[in-house]
Amino acid sequence: MSETQPNEPKVLIPEVRIQERIQELGREITKEYAGKEVVAICVLKSSFIFYSDLLRQIDLPVSCEFLGVSSYGDRRVSSGEVKVTLDINEPLEGKHVLIVEDIVDSGLTLAYLQNNLRGRKPASLKTCALLMKPESMKMEVLVDYVGFKIGSEFVIGYGMDYAGKYRGLPFIGYFEPGH
Ligand code: PRP
Repeated sequence: MSETQPNEPKVLIPEVRIQERIQELGREITKEYAGKEVVAICVLKSSFIFYSDLLRQIDLPVSCEFLGVSSYGDRRVSSGEVKVTLDINEPLEGKHVLIVEDIVDSGLTLAYLQNNLRGRKPASLKTCALLMKPESMKMEVLVDYVGFKIGSEFVIGYGMDYAGKYRGLPFIGYFEPGH
């Protein structure tokens, strides 16, 4: 794929399928955390839409925290360096923490986050990711709840961007090779 301005994205996962899967994830999380309070961490920026949809499908007391990290900048390939752009000030010690990510691509961001958050001594630490790219992963990271496994295509929409654009698309899209 070139780094030139792409054309119209194609639909990889339609809106209705995303919402169905989120309902299933919400039910699973509600069941597994029954009787517990959860601290759900939204990994900014791109998880914000998935996070807000998922949260409304979890029938438990949930505290919301926001953590900003970035490693892609305007590129389609990770820079290899994870930068914290916004940290959580609340203590997480003894809490049941759920990381909510839109996508695990190389796994670098999640490996960094899990390591960072484990250091804050939560009672438990799990991860829910809407998308996972098994063929692109460069690190071994455990993802407890996965929405969809996809190929190595660069995806946009439903919170995810290319050079800051396309986050508002209601579906998950991709660009055809050559665009
Ligand atoms: C994206 C995504 C994940 C990360 C996954 O964030 O939200 O956090 O990349 O990629 P990895 O598994 O290769 O590390 P990005 O750096 O694009 O920042 P953004 O969420 O602010 O768009």
